[in-house]
Amino acid sequence: MGYRTEWQRAKDDPEGFWMDAARAVDWDVAPSKALHDRGGVVPEWFVDGRVNGCWNAVDRHVEAGHGDRVAIAYDSPVTGAVRRITYAQLQDDVARLAGALAGRGVGMGDRVVVYMPMVPEALVAMLACARIGAIHSVVFGGFAAAELAVRIDDAKPKAILAASCGIEPGRVVEYKPLIDGALAQADHAPDFTVVLQREQAVADMGERDVDWRDFVAGAEPAACVPVPGDHPAYILYTSGTTGAPKGVVRPTAGHLVALAWSMPNIYGVRPGETFWAASDVGWVVGHSYIAYAPLIHGCTTVVYEGKPVGTPDATAFWRVMQDHAVAAFFTAPTAFRAVKREDPEGKVAGRFDLSRLRTIFLAGERADPDTVAWIERTTGKPVIDHWWQTETGWAIAANPVGLEALPVKSGSPSVPMPGYDVVVLDEAGHEVPRGTLGAIAVRLPLPPGTLPTLWNADARFRKSYLDAFPGHYETGDAGMLDEDGYLWIMARTDDVINVAGHRLSTGQMEEVIASHPSVAECAVIGVADPLKGQLPVGLMIANAGAAQSPDEIAKEAVALVRETIGPVAAFKLAVVVDRLPKTRSGKILRGTMAAIADGRDWKMPATIDDPAILDEVADALRGLGYPADG
Ligand code: COA
Ligand code: AMP
Repeated sequence: MGYRTEWQRAKDDPEGFWMDAARAVDWDVAPSKALHDRGGVVPEWFVDGRVNGCWNAVDRHVEAGHGDRVAIAYDSPVTGAVRRITYAQLQDDVARLAGALAGRGVGMGDRVVVYMPMVPEALVAMLACARIGAIHSVVFGGFAAAELAVRIDDAKPKAILAASCGIEPGRVVEYKPLIDGALAQADHAPDFTVVLQREQAVADMGERDVDWRDFVAGAEPAACVPVPGDHPAYILYTSGTTGAPKGVVRPTAGHLVALAWSMPNIYGVRPGETFWAASDVGWVVGHSYIAYAPLIHGCTTVVYEGKPVGTPDATAFWRVMQDHAVAAFFTAPTAFRAVKREDPEGKVAGRFDLSRLRTIFLAGERADPDTVAWIERTTGKPVIDHWWQTETGWAIAANPVGLEALPVKSGSPSVPMPGYDVVVLDEAGHEVPRGTLGAIAVRLPLPPGTLPTLWNADARFRKSYLDAFPGHYETGDAGMLDEDGYLWIMARTDDVINVAGHRLSTGQMEEVIASHPSVAECAVIGVADPLKGQLPVGLMIANAGAAQSPDEIAKEAVALVRETIGPVAAFKLAVVVDRLPKTRSGKILRGTMAAIADGRDWKMPATIDDPAILDEVADALRGLGYPADG
């Protein structure tokens, strides 16, 4: 059956479609039906089934006789380590960690924060939680202590599973001081922290800290505990509109069914093959396509600790694909831009055996046609862009090469996946004609695997996603559907910017900068960057009588954002201006400033209060080097 038939079947007969898909999952109690409307915020999937995520990702493959198959291929150029972990070993590691957690009172529904770099134990931690029905919340290592504290206070974890350090080019990032800093700021106190000691920085242990190896030594292995279908598998925090991150909830059963469907149909991979998502376990791509989906499907997943380049040159990606016989590769376009910058002619890939590689997938930000063309030229492999979000957990739009490879249109992530009824709406919520720009929304219900709510925040969930267009989920992206039903993603409708494939909120950065005692007002805009896609730029007005010089204020603002949000914000460009351009009603013209910085065409807004301010801003941006060629 082809794409169109399957999409239509999911629309006309969601029960039949998703109950069929549910057969790829092992159930302790099979669900009586797919969609359940119990008067919650939105209808939910497979609610009365009982299932275990870890069983589906690990144990069932061992039971089926595949215990010797490699589950995790760990490749870490930053430490020089390569390790292959079989499904049987993984089962043992996970069961023992789960047993140790259970022995310390962690059980069904308890939250566990995971703060770890790209090491196999990060997956072991996630799976151990899934095994006993605990809810993990993984926090990306590039966030600062304050961000970790916010997540600890929201999720209220019983325990933290951590490593002593992560490794970034040229520096070792010690995690323990960040955790201690977060715990000092947080109101909530977890019972204990388990620390995986790494030789690059051995952590000082406090009273409530336990060494990972001691923790699991002699622990009784725990069995898989079946959980109700709607039991949260995890909470993953993401940026949006204000400083407080949103805790996206992922229901267990829908997540298993959707990911199981996606592996053969979207990614076209078979059990036993190697799947590599070069991302980080701290992001949704890492949850779905490093940790869960490849394992659910019985593949080998690559856990890669390093950057695409610099370890030592532009060979890292190709070498790993060769060494681990990668069949499908997935990363953000920015990672390939980094490789392309080192190897513009695309000569390096040819030195490696990429014969097992069939398809390259891109997501996380707009795939610029130059980069796509460079990858195609360099590898001779098809490049598939697909579009999704932390909220959905899997692709909203893709080219489902396993199901049916559709013609590729450069610049489009192709077509809506089964279960996603995508529409483009005007401000009044009316569908716009094909080829017209508007807000991209999805008719409810969303398919399995997507968020049913935000953690402890039903009202915020409704306000953020459901209220603008009743009966629809608002994606926050703007774009269009063309005559052939292909989607084109053009921009965000909110304050989210995308920096090196990482989702960041400019509003949050503004809140941080505004807390500087010498800053009276500020605006953060996203400007185009040839490597990272976008970079944040801060424009600030200093308080009259501020003690520091404008340069000092700019430097302090940069340091404050790094300290409060973290290095991942990549906030390095800031400048003090006399005035900020506003509409007569006082709204800062961020879009116009971003267009000036990018050297794009822009129209003088009719409602501007004083056009001369734009000249001053243009001068300030030129001082920072924007537009880049002007
Ligand atoms: N722990 C601590 N610090 C981290 C970190 C982590 N896990 N990840 C990134 N950082 C730091 C970086 O070291 C950098 O610090 P610096 O300002 O001191 O240089 C800062 O955060 C910004 O990181 P980033 O924007 O990622 O820049 P980079 O130069 O380190 O790497 C890329 C750029 C493009 C190579 C890298 O971002 C990449 O490979 N991205 C694509 C893959 C991806 O993760 N996509 C996510 C969704 S698919
Ligand atoms: P995240 O939740 O971090 O995965 O970020 C999701 C956002 O990244 C989306 O809402 C888009 O704005 C952007 N995004 C993800 N994939 C794509 C893509 N293929 N093309 C364009 N934008 C994308």
